Amino acid sequence: MFEVREKPEMVERALLVRIYFDPREADDAETLLEELGELVSTLGIGIVEKVLAKSRSMHRKFLCGTGKAAEIIELAKAHDCDCIVFDNQLAPSQQREWESASDVCVIDREEVILDIFAKRAATREARLQVELARMQYALPRMARMWGHLDREGGGGSGGSAAARGMGEKQIEVDRRMAHVRIDRAKRELENVRKQRATQRHAREKLETPHAAIVGYTNAGKSTLLNRLSDSDVMAKDMLFATLDTTTRRIELPDGQPLLLTDTVGFVRNLPHRLVEAFKATLEEAVLADFCIHVLDASSPDVEQLHDTTLEVLEELGAEDKTIITFLNKIDCVTDPDRLAFLKRTYPEALHGSALSDIGMEELLQACSRVLADRVRRQHYRIPQARADLVGLLHRDAKILSTDYEGNDILVHAVVPAAIAGKLEEFVI
Ligand code: GTP
Repeated sequence: MFEVREKPEMVERALLVRIYFDPREADDAETLLEELGELVSTLGIGIVEKVLAKSRSMHRKFLCGTGKAAEIIELAKAHDCDCIVFDNQLAPSQQREWESASDVCVIDREEVILDIFAKRAATREARLQVELARMQYALPRMARMWGHLDREGGGGSGGSAAARGMGEKQIEVDRRMAHVRIDRAKRELENVRKQRATQRHAREKLETPHAAIVGYTNAGKSTLLNRLSDSDVMAKDMLFATLDTTTRRIELPDGQPLLLTDTVGFVRNLPHRLVEAFKATLEEAVLADFCIHVLDASSPDVEQLHDTTLEVLEELGAEDKTIITFLNKIDCVTDPDRLAFLKRTYPEALHGSALSDIGMEELLQACSRVLADRVRRQHYRIPQARADLVGLLHRDAKILSTDYEGNDILVHAVVPAAIAGKLEEFVI
């Protein structure tokens, strides 16, 4: 039966490879290879060696030339690796070529990220999204999955026609089955999304302003949400700890309520398929009133992290949102030159640490400023017959005082602009 292979359970020793073509890419290629190392470790796979290989041009068969490919395979054998992981994206045919030449499992960055997402997905929506993305990834690679039937039956890759036929038949059966499962997953996802839209609609009816916490994976988004809301959203030193959005209600210094949503972390070269798959989840950023962009200030690649997040936001159509940039983990930045560089590069950004509480007050004030035109302090005289409006104030505004005069209720409150219109006629 068609199953997406669980590589992490099957392999233990990986050789990581990044092929680059332009000498100017060398530094960047090295950073990407380092990051691939972190991603692969997240899956619990041991890294035996990393290879940064330069190729003069892009080759169809192995991406690099056959000589370089032979060297890489030799190295993998010498280290007894059971897996070669490419940071480059490999076409299905290239993946097949590498696997048949090396006789070990060969995967690329996209598959690694898909596997991490598959392990992390906790809600039904996240699971369905990942399942769909993985099946779509696996579909053009099925010939590779059943290649062993051809080889086993025929004794080597040039097996008999009968044995080859067996493999092909199996691929056909699987392909059909995969299409059925993809369609079913799409339908289920559609249903789950409808429910989600209903919940979101209910939330919008509350008319409470809403901010999305966005940023690179491991930047500290969940920690920030915990800090601001005194809650206990899973915050872990692992990539993509959050695959589902969590929303919490907090109160800003001016008394205005704010809904805060933690979103899935972004990563460089996030497979387009996954951005597509997680669009529904990431939509939170598009629908929010503004975004809090959490950036790991202690990372030497802070500029890359910053730009990647902005690119993903653009891809989602959220580039026009007001963005508060929060340079997190500032407790780890002790070098004054580095601090000066950060101030120069991001003059508007706030500095702080979600872990040690630094900068939280300033961040909350900044949120209040963004929403400043949306809140008003008002005195109301509301007749008792309109107790529903008092209920609305209790739910969506901050009540500063309440008094009674005859049949009227006197209320002093900080009111979000969104509901102020409904109470206009009762303003004193
Ligand atoms: P994803 O779910 O992968 O997107 O990660 P995230 O952005 O939600 O990061 P998370 O909050 O899980 O934090 C990642 C790691 O950074 C955890 O080990 C946190 O304890 C640590 N961390 C978060 N904020 C700070 C900070 O201000 N200073 C320091 N030193 N560490 C922090």
